[in-house]
Amino acid sequence: MASAPGLAMPSTTPQPLREYIHQSLPVDFTIPYSTSWLKSKTIVVTGGASGFGAGFCRDWAAAGANVFVGDINDHAGEALVQEVRKTTGNQNIHYIHCDVTDWDSQVGFFKKAVELSPNKGIDVVVANAGIATTDTFMIPTTQKNAEGEEVPRKPNLKIVDVNLLGVLYTAHLAFYHLPKNPDSSATLSPNPDPEKDARDRCLILVGSMASLCGIPGQAQYGVAKHGVLGLFRSLRSTSFALGVRLNMICPYFIDTPIVPALARSLLAGGAMGKPEDVIDAASRLVSDTRIRGRGLVVGPKVKVRPKEDGSGQMELVEKDEGKKDVQERAVWEACVDDFEQSDTFSRNFVGLLTAVTAARGWAGWAGDMLAAVRHAIVNRQLVKR
Ligand SMILES: NC(=O)c1ccc[n+]([C@@H]2O[C@H](COP(=O)([O-])OP(=O)(O)OC[C@H]3O[C@@H](n4cnc5c(N)ncnc54)[C@H](O)[C@@H]3O)[C@@H](O)[C@H]2O)c1
Repeated sequence: MASAPGLAMPSTTPQPLREYIHQSLPVDFTIPYSTSWLKSKTIVVTGGASGFGAGFCRDWAAAGANVFVGDINDHAGEALVQEVRKTTGNQNIHYIHCDVTDWDSQVGFFKKAVELSPNKGIDVVVANAGIATTDTFMIPTTQKNAEGEEVPRKPNLKIVDVNLLGVLYTAHLAFYHLPKNPDSSATLSPNPDPEKDARDRCLILVGSMASLCGIPGQAQYGVAKHGVLGLFRSLRSTSFALGVRLNMICPYFIDTPIVPALARSLLAGGAMGKPEDVIDAASRLVSDTRIRGRGLVVGPKVKVRPKEDGSGQMELVEKDEGKKDVQERAVWEACVDDFEQSDTFSRNFVGLLTAVTAARGWAGWAGDMLAAVRHAIVNRQLVKR
């Protein structure tokens, strides 16, 4: 894994290889970017009706992009489109029903997006749809077969279907449609200029912190999100050949509807990230055509500084008190080089969050527990309605 600014982990990728696959240098978060660079570009977002997807669609439509929201939640998708048209005045945002687990449904979604796009092409694809429901993988049940024997029942692998199969379909369709984008280039420019690059071929994969480490009780989610990381690592060394910029985001637990009350209660006292930081990280990757082949982890905003032991790892800063090299950040660069460094990153990151938990103490735990109970009550009421 390459170094985020301040993480100081030396890259093990030989320079000529990085250049050969057209991978850009680690992202410099101090360099500003602008979503205005997205004006008139056509963007498709799977799972765009809620959470991060809805946030992406709101911000990118506000910047003047043509946005296509694909989701199974028709009610939320239509409502989002009406809201965004009204608040931004941009009428080029559309909802199209799309079930990412269904190949034909995704084919139809992309086809409709091309047809309705003012420039008859797709500049950006965001493979975002996902679910995180209760995983019964470790709780086998049985059923009677035709002979009346008790046999293990076939497991429900819906989480893998949505989070991995769905992403594979989306990525495959991106490699079909992005190279057909009129006026975009089949060759990645050696000197990209995000202000002038009117057309693009950009694919964003939404993974998770679960792409980098296991989450107890969520085997399928871990399998699927590790699979997304595997896809990213595999594709990024060749996607340049089709002029496609490939990047990935790996959010930690972030406050969206996907995080169930149980997970919220298990996280109580710790730190949960904010959707706006994920939207910011994804907006940078989508807008800035200079960024290629990078993976960003997004977590809770923390104040950190380099450890004094020279290990290159970061430590939490509870009180500034004039300490040197303190920075506040929610976004980190990850999954760039190899597993050896990825594991080092995960250990350091989890260590930081454990330090946040200790710093917040019992008061933080109690506040989060109350919020988790309230979330459960509100959700039950919504379901009853
Ligand atoms: N929020 C987090 O803590 C977190 C952390 C890591 C990764 N992620 C990932 O971020 C992505 C977005 O999640 P979110 O947090 O915004 O959750 P969310 O539940 O708010 O949004 C997910 C969206 O995906 C849609 N969806 C579900 N199944 C679908 C299907 N078969 N076809 C099309 N759309 C479908 C849902 O209807 C919903 O609109 C997911 O891939 C999720 O795994 C979220």
